[in-house]
Amino acid sequence: DWTADSFVDSTVAALKAQLGDDKVVLGLSGGVDSSVAAVLIHKAIGKNLYCIFVDNGLLRKNEFEDVLESYKNLGLNVKGVNSKDIFYKALEGLTDPEAKRKAIGKAFIDVFDQESHLIEDVKWLGQGTIYPDIIESVSVSGGPSQTIKSHHNVGGLPDYMKLQVVEPLKTLFKDEVRLVGKTLEIPQFILGRHPFPGPGLGIRILGDITAEKVQILQEVDHIFINGLKNRGLYDGVWQAGAMLLPIQSVGVMGDERTYERVVALRAVSSVDGMTADWCHLPYDFLADISNEIINKVKGVNRVVYDISSKPPATIEWE
Ligand code: XMP
Repeated sequence: DWTADSFVDSTVAALKAQLGDDKVVLGLSGGVDSSVAAVLIHKAIGKNLYCIFVDNGLLRKNEFEDVLESYKNLGLNVKGVNSKDIFYKALEGLTDPEAKRKAIGKAFIDVFDQESHLIEDVKWLGQGTIYPDIIESVSVSGGPSQTIKSHHNVGGLPDYMKLQVVEPLKTLFKDEVRLVGKTLEIPQFILGRHPFPGPGLGIRILGDITAEKVQILQEVDHIFINGLKNRGLYDGVWQAGAMLLPIQSVGVMGDERTYERVVALRAVSSVDGMTADWCHLPYDFLADISNEIINKVKGVNRVVYDISSKPPATIEWE
């Protein structure tokens, strides 16, 4: 029978045998998966694990600073790299969801390539890929091999990187990853975090991405997520976030007509992200959040709530 304890023991032993005295570079995302992968690998090889946390300019509000601090507290050797400009430049003018994902993925690889060259003799790239990432990238169930969405963290690396990939979580579902994290004594505030996609707010801003749009969405998301926490709703929701839509709508403010942006809120319940139901959040909570967003976030005059389940809708809008 599978238990988190036995998984940790056998995986750490396997990693020791596989990695020996080799160095590993690993990209932390702030999420559960990469955090658990890092602590597992750290347990196996200690100081030979070099973690990199990239600010891609598509993170949640204050995420970079907060998360970097918490990783240092975990004893991990982490380097924070500000690469916002590289990502914004790579995304300039792109509107197609797959093109955006690919651009973000490529920028990640470029940053990693550059950073890994600074680590002498590094041989491996550690990743927090989990089982659903792999199957969703490979095929539509029952159908021919066809990509649903190209997850940035799956697939071949360019030859020039010369790094082998080590993915200790690739057989696990999300709930199992959390159990492993608990066994590794990773704090609950990291393990209890909602999943957040690698491409971040880049796939929650529909259409092209600008620094201004990112800032608007960060504020909206912050109000929504904090609201869930303050009302004691956060832990009962599997994943939540906000989408910035590429349309404007008419509103009224005082005596004036406004013509501003629409945001959509999404909150889902799920076990593994493969299927999901929209959460029946209390109406008075939604009303409060809507008011707070419209009052506080300049440029937004309408809030809608996504009542679609997966399938057929996906959790992310892109
Ligand atoms: P969808 O939108 O496909 O999302 O229903 C299922 C789960 O996967 C996350 N997701 C991603 N995670 N890179 C990631 O690391 C990606 O490109 C990506 N796309 C979606 C999504 O947030 C949800 O938890």
